[in-house]
Amino acid sequence: MNNLKLEYLGHSVLLIKTNGKNIIVDPFIKENPQCPISLGELPKIDYVLVTHGHSDHIGDTMEISKRDGATVISNFEICEYLESKGAKTHPMHIGGAFSFDFGSVKLTPAFHGSSIKEGENVLYAGMPSGFLIESNGKKIYHAGDTGLSVEMQLLKEEMLDVAFLPIGGNFVMDVKDAIRATSFIMPKIVVPIHYNTWDIIKADAEEFKAKVEEMNIKCTIMKPGEWLEI
Ligand code: NI
Ligand code: MN
Repeated sequence: MNNLKLEYLGHSVLLIKTNGKNIIVDPFIKENPQCPISLGELPKIDYVLVTHGHSDHIGDTMEISKRDGATVISNFEICEYLESKGAKTHPMHIGGAFSFDFGSVKLTPAFHGSSIKEGENVLYAGMPSGFLIESNGKKIYHAGDTGLSVEMQLLKEEMLDVAFLPIGGNFVMDVKDAIRATSFIMPKIVVPIHYNTWDIIKADAEEFKAKVEEMNIKCTIMKPGEWLEI
């Protein structure tokens, strides 16, 4: 069995290599000040997972879908919008799971907003979500943008291998709440995301790491461009 490889590309962007497929979560590449690669350097993508409609998450989804013929997995509303622009999609919704050729995906609740700005118009983009991804015998949770929620307690029994949690505050959990979220989820490894991209989401990842390691949970602070193999 091959290992599963994860590359953090800054902000909330996660590239997953598993079962011969390339999956990217929230591909905010071109406008992402933390992303170390250009869109041209991104390998051919098979699936794009989008947590919600905000531009720092939907990012370059349309371009990647068109370039690579990648299937977009997201909520129904975002998929409808992207389909109307010519993308190939697989619509899902909170609580629903589906088995793809690389593994399964379940949409998890996220407390946040979700809209798409198109010119002067703000379009409704369904409920924001996180993703529970199961592939190659490994379980990964990408929380998306969210505040702390008691729903996260349900993830404890999943025995997650890795949890990617936002810590930047203001729009999402801050360090303190992300520590509480980690205590709910109890993953093997936790990786902080969605911080220091801009001043408004400044956070101290080292403080987060120190506190979660007091709970005997390993925290891996990934620099953009770094890989994690599980
Ligand atoms: Ni957002
Ligand atoms: Mn965001």
